[in-house]
Amino acid sequence: MNRPVLEGLRLNTPAYVKHDRLIAWVADIAALTEAADVYWCDGSDEEYRRLTEQLVAAGTLLKLNPELRPSSFLARSDPSDVARVEDRTFICSAKQEDAGPTNNWMAPAEMRALLQTGDQALFKGAMRGRTLYVVPFSMGPLGSHIAHVGIELTDSPYVAVSMRVMTRMGRQVFDVLGSDGAFVPCVHTVGAPLQAGQADVAWPCNKTKYIVHYPETREIWSYGSGYGGNALLGKKCFALRIASTMGREQGWLAEHMLILGVTNPQGRKYHVAAAFPSACGKTNFSMLVPPAGFKGWKVTTIGDDIAWIKPGADGRLYAINPEAGYFGVAPGTNDHTNPNCMASLKRDVIFTNVALTDDGDVWWEGMTDTPPAHLIDWQGRDWTPALAKETGSKAAHPNARFTVAATNNPVLDGDWDNADGVAIDAFIFGGRRSTTVPLVTEARNWTEGVYMAATMGSETTAAAAGQQGVVRRDPFAMLPFMGYNMADYFQHWLQLGAKLQGQGAALPRIYCVNWFRKGADGKFVWPGYGDNMRVLEWMLGRIEGRSQGADNVFGVSPRYEDLRWDGLAFTREQFATVIGIDKAAWQQELKLHAELFKQLEHGLPAELPATMQRIDARLAAG
Ligand code: GTP
Ligand code: SPV
Ligand code: MN
Repeated sequence: MNRPVLEGLRLNTPAYVKHDRLIAWVADIAALTEAADVYWCDGSDEEYRRLTEQLVAAGTLLKLNPELRPSSFLARSDPSDVARVEDRTFICSAKQEDAGPTNNWMAPAEMRALLQTGDQALFKGAMRGRTLYVVPFSMGPLGSHIAHVGIELTDSPYVAVSMRVMTRMGRQVFDVLGSDGAFVPCVHTVGAPLQAGQADVAWPCNKTKYIVHYPETREIWSYGSGYGGNALLGKKCFALRIASTMGREQGWLAEHMLILGVTNPQGRKYHVAAAFPSACGKTNFSMLVPPAGFKGWKVTTIGDDIAWIKPGADGRLYAINPEAGYFGVAPGTNDHTNPNCMASLKRDVIFTNVALTDDGDVWWEGMTDTPPAHLIDWQGRDWTPALAKETGSKAAHPNARFTVAATNNPVLDGDWDNADGVAIDAFIFGGRRSTTVPLVTEARNWTEGVYMAATMGSETTAAAAGQQGVVRRDPFAMLPFMGYNMADYFQHWLQLGAKLQGQGAALPRIYCVNWFRKGADGKFVWPGYGDNMRVLEWMLGRIEGRSQGADNVFGVSPRYEDLRWDGLAFTREQFATVIGIDKAAWQQELKLHAELFKQLEHGLPAELPATMQRIDARLAAG
């Protein structure tokens, strides 16, 4: 291999790393980026302490009051670097049609010239004055047949410590890799080289951003952002975009889904995987506390954001959570909406872009009914309730997040780390829709379920940069995370279902939900959160053949008397406003489905427009 000479740079490779190809790659990237030093993360507690202390000294992290929030930190990002950047995210497949019409695409050679090889290539010298951290991680239990290894090279120690919380990170990964194991190379820079003597800032980043995936060579290159899914490359870039292409080739699924266990009073346990778009309730649902009237029911968390799902020898679908931590939305989280989450956040947390209280603790909108009299907001400025009233300024950024290990969760499922995964009994798809879509509908078969998932719409949220609250199609909650052509992905789901059915397996039921219908007063009608248990109970009752329902134009929904209302005053009239199908609204909705199908017409499975026509006909007849 023609390797560049590393003048004066030592690679510092630990003796336990025996993988020559990996070492050569680290040397290449260190040379390209002109990193000042190379540090190999071992994932130890001692290392986490040292790196967080270093981040405190650098001003990136602020140590919270150890009495109120032990071993916890607050980071404030640059105000321009607060969410995923979808318009800067690229799938650079060899052929444009393989990225499909929903992804940004550039020819690999052209992108490589921009990033790596051209005269002005962005990664050239990008780490000058900074340390390159080698971050070895496993997505999924170490050594699991469903798991895969990645190595992230980053110049952000904030990313290195976050990866320690979010993944199984450390030297044990090299044991799995051995001398020639496969890994997904992930290169990340904040794009802020330091000249000799130049002082650093608390949150280095660059206004130019590129989040780039090469599916054929399974590489990830991320430039310019230090935030969340742009920078923690194991998460969306690897576990969804690259993994979806691996799953397509190898016959499995990488999904934007929570995974939960739910045990009924008779002790029977089910597993449910649910896809809701970003900031639409996955973390909440995965930690659900059943209402008081649901004695003997228990919900336990396997994952809150991503599921890797593989068919087993018995024809059932087995899911693992490839992550080991939660990067969750803080605003709206409180002791009523998500008490298990609040309990998870008592200690060992890295908060980003929440507000700081005068006694050194954290606060965000919705944490308490009455905000503290004074706060330091997410940009480090004084904040008071009076100021908020006057200017509408938020103390925490709407996409403020916490980073915490799964092991902090009091309702963590005993099987969360099971290398074989858990067998899925039901899939749920649910968008954020203030109108039109009913509380819950069961698909009558796999194709109807795939149709529901494929045509899902949702109002945009603060999880991505750009306009908020506009309805867009977000198929399978995967629009920002698809690594290949969306139409081919629909086909992959249909084919997998047909194959398993052909083997005589009972496929998981598919449901579509909407917790977010609003009344004339602009308020949510459905109480949501723990009360979503009422809907979950109905679903499990359907699987057991106990729950009744009534057919509508696109599936089966419960009538008022089919749900259990113990402990909740929710009238028939209120129920009608969340379950009803308005003919005119649905005729409009089907036009939007047709628009999506037009956009995806190249390779679109014929079953989907055929299903649309059947719904249209039922609607016209009704
Ligand atoms: P990502 O991490 O971005 O993928 O999001 P997520 O789907 O895990 O979202 P999360 O559970 O963090 O919820 C985001 C927001 O939705 C929070 O502000 C919640 O309070 C709110 N939310 C969650 N569940 C419900 C619900 O049942 N009803 C209502 N009205 N809001 C909810
Ligand atoms: C999402 O946006 O769906 C997230 C947060 O889970 S991030 O990791 O930043 O993409
Ligand atoms: Mn997500």
